[in-house]
Amino acid sequence: MATETLFDELKRYVKFGPEDEATLRSLHPVMAPHFERFADVFYQRILEHDGARAALRDGPHMVDRLKVTLVAWLHQLLQGPWDDAYYERRCRIGRVHVRVALPQHYMFGAMNVLREQMIGFVEQHLKEKEPVQAIASIDKILDLELAIMVHSYREDLLSQQARVERLSTFGQLVGSIGHELRNPLGVIETSLYILKQRVSGDERTDKHIERIGQQLGIANAIITKLLDMIRDRPLSRETIAVGPMLEQACAAVTTPPEVQVQVRVPDGVPALLGDPIQLRQVFVNLIENAVIAASPKGEVQVVARADDATLQISVQDTGPGVDPSVRGRLFEPLVTTRPKGIGLGLALVKRIVERHGGSIGYQPRDGGGASFTVTLPLKAP
Ligand code: HEM
Repeated sequence: MATETLFDELKRYVKFGPEDEATLRSLHPVMAPHFERFADVFYQRILEHDGARAALRDGPHMVDRLKVTLVAWLHQLLQGPWDDAYYERRCRIGRVHVRVALPQHYMFGAMNVLREQMIGFVEQHLKEKEPVQAIASIDKILDLELAIMVHSYREDLLSQQARVERLSTFGQLVGSIGHELRNPLGVIETSLYILKQRVSGDERTDKHIERIGQQLGIANAIITKLLDMIRDRPLSRETIAVGPMLEQACAAVTTPPEVQVQVRVPDGVPALLGDPIQLRQVFVNLIENAVIAASPKGEVQVVARADDATLQISVQDTGPGVDPSVRGRLFEPLVTTRPKGIGLGLALVKRIVERHGGSIGYQPRDGGGASFTVTLPLKAP
């Protein structure tokens, strides 16, 4: 026997059957001319509400496009067929909301706005013709829709848990490999030191010994970086001059000749209290990402400004910007937009910034590209 799909199970639960299907289909021709009005009311309600409006990340102008998708959604709602393909489509829409990080609690209010519109219509127009069945069928299908939306959020939570578990296994692995590599590297370093005393004088040999020493330094630095990512180093706070810190971070990033990196720190931006090495790491990571995004040709701007309580540093690039589908997840470990990235850079950035009592956010840059803003308290928390 074929196993029942979640959709079938849900339909069975709310007793959604052929009678409801027929009712919804018969409502379609009378209600369809009003769908645009329903969509207007729906988005008007979102725009009136600060929190919900904030979810429209590309600004209110995306509403026109969304109204079209909502009208199509309403046509399908009343026309069906309410089969597996319908369920799949609805799950996909649910995942779109999850991906744009739309808080799930808005779904209940939003569905209710549609309910009000549809039931209001039925009560007004079908007074003489038994609106009871129509209202019951609308209630059932909207409950099913809501259940699918909430299900998408649950699925997302489960996959997040799986990711965290994956990360912890990955972290343990990185930690033990890192530690194991320290020993042989230490032996190489000591032997190199002894060799240096014996063979100096020959120019080529000296050059190669020098190179081995440099590469050892790089290998050790990589291990330190990896270990930093998996354990929180205690913060060692010092007073940091913002300009030089940002200049040093820029200098540490390899930049192609046609990418211009500019740092702007206005006079009067106060010094910061924080861990200089870890904060420098934050800006190295952000500037490195921005330079890669702006390559092969483009601009990166690092701009600092301060108010009474906070310092804000934004790193902007003229690259393609971050796809809306990953924006909500950008700071999670193992999320990357680069084919070769492992997705730890921004997660580390976020962790360091938050340990300083600050926050980091992403906004699309005006005129295209990405803009990351780090906000740090001027007084230690
Ligand atoms: C419960 C009722 C809702 C329904 C039926 C609904 C329906 C839809 C549909 C059909 C799409 C298009 C998906 C696609 O194929 O790409 C969509 C996308 C979207 N919805 Fe909703 N939505 C609902 C609630 C909300 C609310 C409350 C908000 C905001 C507060 C919202 C914000 C968005 C955004 C931002 C996208 C577009 C993402 C993108 O393309 O970048 N939705 N929605």
